Amino acid sequence: MAFTPAKWPRRLRSQEWYGGNSRDTIYHRGWMKNQGYPHDLFDGRPIIGILNTWSELSPCNGIHMKELAEKVKAGIWEAGGFPVEVPVFSASENTFRPTAMMFRNLAALAVEETIRGQPMDGCVLLVGCDKTTPSLMMAAASVDLPAIVVTGGPMLNGYYRNERVGSGTHLWKFSEAVKAGEMTQDEFLEAEASMSRSTGTCNTMGTASTMASMAEALGMALSGNAAIPAVDSRRRVMAQLSGRRIVQMVKDDLKPSDVMTKEAFENAIRTNAAIGGSTNAVIHLLAMAGRAGVDLTLEDWDRCGRDVPTIVNLMPSGKYLMEEFFYAGGLPVVLKRLGEGGLLHKDAITVSGQSMWDEVKDVVNHNEDVILPTDKALTQSGGIVVVKGNLAPKGAVLKPSAATPALLQHKGRAVVFEDIDDYKAKINDPDLDIDETCIMVMKNCGPKGYPGMAEVGNMGLPPKILKKGITDMVRLSDARMSGTAYGTVVLHTSPEAAAGGPLAVVQNGDMIELDVANRRLHLDISDAELAERLASWTPQHERADSGYAWLHQHHVEGADTGADLDFLKGCRGSAVGKDSH
Ligand code: FES
Repeated sequence: MAFTPAKWPRRLRSQEWYGGNSRDTIYHRGWMKNQGYPHDLFDGRPIIGILNTWSELSPCNGIHMKELAEKVKAGIWEAGGFPVEVPVFSASENTFRPTAMMFRNLAALAVEETIRGQPMDGCVLLVGCDKTTPSLMMAAASVDLPAIVVTGGPMLNGYYRNERVGSGTHLWKFSEAVKAGEMTQDEFLEAEASMSRSTGTCNTMGTASTMASMAEALGMALSGNAAIPAVDSRRRVMAQLSGRRIVQMVKDDLKPSDVMTKEAFENAIRTNAAIGGSTNAVIHLLAMAGRAGVDLTLEDWDRCGRDVPTIVNLMPSGKYLMEEFFYAGGLPVVLKRLGEGGLLHKDAITVSGQSMWDEVKDVVNHNEDVILPTDKALTQSGGIVVVKGNLAPKGAVLKPSAATPALLQHKGRAVVFEDIDDYKAKINDPDLDIDETCIMVMKNCGPKGYPGMAEVGNMGLPPKILKKGITDMVRLSDARMSGTAYGTVVLHTSPEAAAGGPLAVVQNGDMIELDVANRRLHLDISDAELAERLASWTPQHERADSGYAWLHQHHVEGADTGADLDFLKGCRGSAVGKDSH
């Protein structure tokens, strides 16, 4: 897919505000000059918004993002552009309640209008924590002005008593060890300080690292961006180079719609399988595709990822952390391997203006224990599995690289929790009627139900089972799961319980069959009984009656199509509205 650059020079949209000498232009320019900008900066050069998700309450998007913004600015100045830094909505996974996911669409809405309503010709998306990356990319796709992603980068490796500690992954491991009596509470507290050694995002292949990898695999970030540690000087170089590059992208008119094509999404899906990426990528890529007008479905996830081996040996599926991934060569090595295996659309255009293959064909793998040879892959079929059946007519997902192979074909008795509060109230009860062959089922944690679709799908096991040394059981819900988590966990069951999906009527004692080989998820009751139960079902969850929660609950779509708000799908373009003065 060749890209033909636009002619330069030409009049840019920022000149709608700053070009000429009308009263309105003088009004706009005059206000900008109170910041000390010389007159010649308004001469028609590209004005680039640096959309910065830095926030002291988004510790993953830490103080270094302010330094990165300065380096982006330096690059923009060098290339003859005019940088303007714009703080935007930031939702941290570890802080926002009820869940950051409820605010992904709000952030996307706010950022979309932030771009469209102001004099920008292009933008740099300075992102990091899980939701910040997709929300800004969704916004950029809807406006379709030239845009480039710069991520904040992962934290350095954590270490506790000389063992690697992965963000999130070890939080789940340690808390289960405490429940099992294998770790004391004091040791857990000691480990807390070892988890986050530097500024940056989760150091595992969790959702933040996955989405940074997705941005790179989609071609929306410069090659090599995803894995550079937050505090490495090369991350600042990447920021400066991206600043230079966005100016040329504006001159060439290289837009998200040129980059985020169906082929690019297929590259990203295969990449997600190869890196053992987060199940959250499913929802975010579907939502981004919805904004870009690309017809991407859950079936594409299963089709494209089915035979892709997981070759990146990172937690939670493997052993290492993002720091080692960077030293091994990072994502370009993975993309090269996909290309060599016939699993990459090599011609896909990236923000560099080059094809994906041109970007990666000469890279070298520096550590074959981190980026594994195919015959030593963590799993030969690493793609996200999509299962369907009478329990999930619109699908549910499972990450095989994080699952126990023996549980991928399993029939068990349902132990049902009506919602997360019911789960918390019952799970530690020694009298809970459950054993390791059961399937734990949780309802009302989907996009409408929680609301916002929290990362609670990897329900911790009951202490009495952990004490037997058992660490995995089949778990099933309409929730999401942290990208740092692991286990045989069926997620995103659609339609969700709160929308009247069959999950809503599962009862304690029902038999459920998970058959990953045949992509089947079956509730073992008759069609007639299922219909009868659904006919007598009434919504159990509370609905917000005002505010953003109301908007979200009334307009959010199912996980199977990306959980975007129904009125935000599609590309609305960058047309400038009338001036009000
Ligand atoms: Fe923000 Fe992991 S919680 S990057």
